[in-house]
Amino acid sequence: MPPIPGKPGSLTLLNAPPEGARKGRNRVARAPPPRGKPVAGTGFHDFTSGLEPTHVSRAELTISRMRSVRPAKAAAGGAPAPHVPPAGAAFTMAAPMPTAEQASSTSLDLSWVRSQFPSLAQTVNGHPAVFLDGPGGTQVPQRVIDAISDYLAINNANTGGAYQTSRNTDRMIAEARAAMADFLNCDADEIVIGPNMTTLTYAMSRAIGRELVPGDEIVLTLLDHDANFSPWNALEEKGVIIRTVAFNPVDCTLDMQDLVRQITSRTRLIAVGYASNAVGTINNVAEGVRLAKQVGALSYIDAVHYAPHGPIDVRALDCDFLVCSTYKFFGPHMGLLYGKREHLKRFRPYKVRPLTDSIPNCWEWGTLNHECIAGIKACVDYWEELGRRAKPSVSSRRAAVLAAHEAIHPHERTMMEKMIAGLLAIPGLKVYGISDPRRFDNRCATIVVRVEGFTPLELATKLGDRGFFTWDGNYYALNVTEQLDVERTGGFLRIGLVHYNTMEEVERMLAALREVVRA
Ligand SMILES: Cc1ncc(COP(=O)(O)O)c(C=O)c1O
Repeated sequence: MPPIPGKPGSLTLLNAPPEGARKGRNRVARAPPPRGKPVAGTGFHDFTSGLEPTHVSRAELTISRMRSVRPAKAAAGGAPAPHVPPAGAAFTMAAPMPTAEQASSTSLDLSWVRSQFPSLAQTVNGHPAVFLDGPGGTQVPQRVIDAISDYLAINNANTGGAYQTSRNTDRMIAEARAAMADFLNCDADEIVIGPNMTTLTYAMSRAIGRELVPGDEIVLTLLDHDANFSPWNALEEKGVIIRTVAFNPVDCTLDMQDLVRQITSRTRLIAVGYASNAVGTINNVAEGVRLAKQVGALSYIDAVHYAPHGPIDVRALDCDFLVCSTYKFFGPHMGLLYGKREHLKRFRPYKVRPLTDSIPNCWEWGTLNHECIAGIKACVDYWEELGRRAKPSVSSRRAAVLAAHEAIHPHERTMMEKMIAGLLAIPGLKVYGISDPRRFDNRCATIVVRVEGFTPLELATKLGDRGFFTWDGNYYALNVTEQLDVERTGGFLRIGLVHYNTMEEVERMLAALREVVRA
């Protein structure tokens, strides 16, 4: 793919198609296409069939007919204008919004936040749906939905063509890359876009692995998701020695002394997660990067779970690679890899011959999911607007993303404190991971539990029927569930809080769990 020419002022088709293209199209009245089968006489749609049957088998999931809530055009200067629902177009809800509460942080306007996410208005068996499944994938704001469908409606084309929609596609991808570069604090040509973190990690581990020789060592952790374990572990077939770092089973924190022990002069790479998608521990990745550097090894950070909870600064971390997935932080199902420019240039990707040798495109195989890339840009726009609302004085997109994190952090923290305190008070319930509030800086609001007498699946199903979306199992953090000896008995029940959740939801979840456990 040729380098993408920046043509200021020629972006109109992406965000606002020419008048002709819009004519006759009532944008506001256009409801999203129904995704479930109609429920007779209700105007609602039954979503039961689209759900994992064992988890919500008896649930009748309905959604109100939502109208499109579209972002206003970008203001001059590139900053997105506030996302204002057009008059009369605010979506109606099948049930009252669970809360009108403000977040505990004065700068987070939770009502505005929730108004951005149409899916939060769904009900299950008459109960408002409570999305505690963020660690498996978060909901998306309306602007992400619109960006995806607008791309398909208006600009659907392959890249590198000598015509308008193809050029618009090139520009849109460049914009998404630049947006993600601001999100992670790097340059746009250091952002590789791919289908998901796992695929990107397999690709990069193959490329790095082809330069390793028998006896070289890679250090992995037992706290990591398997996507940051198995791709590296597979290099054993080349004679690479895999060393693993233990975690403390009492509080589920990484054993940093063991990390030091596992690093030798033969270490070539250290792969470590920023935060555990199972027990919520935030790892000291900066120390991991520092230790890797001491022996000239590469550092590969899995930030998939951390990204919705805390700011990422790859420059400050000085890591060599960092991966994340946009569907975990309010974007579409896509993955991203940051690689230091020197590494993206030096390592040789496996690739087809006609594909360019220039970075980052040489790492992007085949045709990408362009519509979702449009959604990635809209996702960063959401973060930016969240930050600008919280701190109107910010002067750049990066500063706005940081302000957004500042605003959501206290809210997540307060919800986590309440949730963990409430869980600990339930007889027969065990919380895994850090449960002492004084150490909550070292964890995020992802909480796993077991309750005596119940399998995690039983709990998740009963909660699911009441409208609480939690997960059961190992979430691919297989080493964690094996080490803690819960793999054979169904893993954990996982409750994940993100900034669109509310204190009222936390209270209702605790009440529902108490009821389930008592019954
Ligand atoms: C911590 C962590 N790493 C990696 C992954 C894999 O991400 P993807 O689905 O984008 O391959 C996940 C997915 O849940 C995850 O939570």
